[in-house]
Amino acid sequence: MDAALHYGICIPHLCHLPTLSDVGACRLCIVENVVNGRSRITTSCTLVAKEGMVVMANSEKVRKLRRNIAELLVAQAPNSRAIQDIAVRCGVTSVRYPFRQDDCVLCGRCVRTCAEMYQAHAIGFVGRGKHRRVDFPFSERPEFCKRCWGCVDLCPMKETPCDGPMKPGEEYLCGRCESTTTPPQYAVGDCIRCDMGKGFDCVRHRI
Ligand code: FES
Repeated sequence: MDAALHYGICIPHLCHLPTLSDVGACRLCIVENVVNGRSRITTSCTLVAKEGMVVMANSEKVRKLRRNIAELLVAQAPNSRAIQDIAVRCGVTSVRYPFRQDDCVLCGRCVRTCAEMYQAHAIGFVGRGKHRRVDFPFSERPEFCKRCWGCVDLCPMKETPCDGPMKPGEEYLCGRCESTTTPPQYAVGDCIRCDMGKGFDCVRHRI
């Protein structure tokens, strides 16, 4: 992904941050990796670039799968403006899945920021399956939490949609702001800058 972004090929992404390790949590960054004529869908943030490799970042198959992933993310956390913005740019116009109103999409940005950037390890994933969440050890803030709020700064949930937090049963895909100014079919190759849709913030990588 870093190689693609460096050359201005925009790949939507959410859990990837250039300074942190990659875990492939959000799956928005999928691409087709073609090996011996057979293509395999994989997350580009965890794919190591090699000489001569063939990768398709914007094929019809990738766009379709990516739209579905973006839809699922919106259904999981409709109160995230960043996620809504990314979804609109991925071509999502409506969401077919029931809204869950979770306040976390388990992208792990906060956990990796705390551990890798601040060396604090004050938060982590606990629970399994649908009970999985980010929390302090034993749900109590430990002494070694530095209260830097770095975890909050990088959270995609910190901005709500334009109209503010949604009420259960009244969720919708916003898409009214600048995210609608670029037709989705051009969004991947023709990157635009947006403070909310971090997945498309690759202008600074262009050479
Ligand atoms: S899985 Fe690659 S950016 Fe999230």
